[in-house]
Amino acid sequence: MTIPADIAKDIVDPTAYADGDRVDQAFAWLRKEAPLDIAQPEGFDPFWVVTRHADILEVERQNELFHNGDRATVLTTIEADRKVREMMGGSPHLVRSLVQMDNPDHFAYRKITQGSLLPQNLRALEARIREIARGFVDRMAEHGDRCDFARDVAFLYPLHVIMEVLGVPESDEPRMLKLTQELFGNADPDLNRTGKSVTDAGEGVDSIQSVVMDFMMYFNAMTEDRRANPRNDLATLIANGKINGEPMGHLEAMSYYIIAATAGHDTTSSTTAGALWALAENPDQFAKVKADPSLIAGLIEESIRWVTPVKHFMRTATADAELAGRRSPRATGCSCPTRPATATRRCSTTRSASRSTARPTSTSLSATALTSASASTWRGWRCGCFGRSSSPASTMSSWTARPPAWSPTSSAGPSLSRSDSRCTEAER
Ligand code: HEM
Repeated sequence: MTIPADIAKDIVDPTAYADGDRVDQAFAWLRKEAPLDIAQPEGFDPFWVVTRHADILEVERQNELFHNGDRATVLTTIEADRKVREMMGGSPHLVRSLVQMDNPDHFAYRKITQGSLLPQNLRALEARIREIARGFVDRMAEHGDRCDFARDVAFLYPLHVIMEVLGVPESDEPRMLKLTQELFGNADPDLNRTGKSVTDAGEGVDSIQSVVMDFMMYFNAMTEDRRANPRNDLATLIANGKINGEPMGHLEAMSYYIIAATAGHDTTSSTTAGALWALAENPDQFAKVKADPSLIAGLIEESIRWVTPVKHFMRTATADAELAGRRSPRATGCSCPTRPATATRRCSTTRSASRSTARPTSTSLSATALTSASASTWRGWRCGCFGRSSSPASTMSSWTARPPAWSPTSSAGPSLSRSDSRCTEAER
């Protein structure tokens, strides 16, 4: 079955995500009626839409079968794809970071910073991160009984942490924040460079490219500095990183800085802001967590699920395969829309843990998932994995356990006290 045109349109429409309810309803419908089917929105190559947690996990786990780098890693119009390839000598990517790589490159590039991000090394940062957090709480208190929490706290605190780890001086943080928002908010007239809705694919690509160039200019200078004056920061690792004994390529090095400078704070800022918004709308939940700080760990988990700051990612099948018993016509692709489902976030967690190494050792996945059945046909197809769904009952894990007050759209909300991450049968 092909996904109905109105649903397919919502999946690729940025305003549906801004609306929230509209895209949530689309995903709720998909999970119930068509959890694994092809969307053919106008202006896009057809792609598979993967909305169930177990299927998304399978796509993530099979990283030899579902590639990142072969085509754009986010939903992209045919026209924008053409324009990027024209600019990049045939490559579908404006940058080449870990997100756009597959093995063996992914493994080799990841090794450069992996050590510094291991839990034991991150633990060493904990005291400093707490100190920064306390500073922001004090600043918030200075605002008195009103503040713009997103602007004054949520955007700035994770930014400061990430920039310290990377090695960007505090004076440059506003610049990094603006560039990040322009990059990820390219479709948003409130954030992008043009100040208007992007309707022309060429214009959209040009505007992203100009942001990328500004990032590159900044990090070029940083590379020179860290080669001459190495420090104890991520920038020094990137500037001096070697792949097979050779310095990293320029595009790859610049892309490495860009992902390091953007991915960590945009996601966590959105989560923090979205969590406080949800608590403000659900004072009973707020009261619970204030009365019992041991609930904070659960609050953080649920907040990431609730907000789902990364909405989707795309993969391209490299060979014929079958997913949850479905075969795709030969030479198509699969897309994993991650918005708004907890599944997205889970996807990324799994990937981070397993991509460059072996498969995860424990899993509750169905054995039917992706096999490389020779007669079936995911080869060349793209699939989109989408995360949190508006309809709690149709998504993964904790949503079925949520108390009613949390969700603005349904009769369920996240449970602050939930500590497991199991999915119900229906959600799988
Ligand atoms: C709420 C928090 C976060 C969410 C929801 C999130 C989400 C994601 C997702 C979905 C991906 C995979 C994209 C894909 O497969 O195409 C990803 C990859 C990545 N994220 Fe995050 N992220 C978060 C926090 C962070 C932080 C704090 C950092 C850095 C300090 C970070 C750095 C990265 C990097 C480097 C990758 C690429 C990893 C790889 O391919 O090996 N993220 N993230």
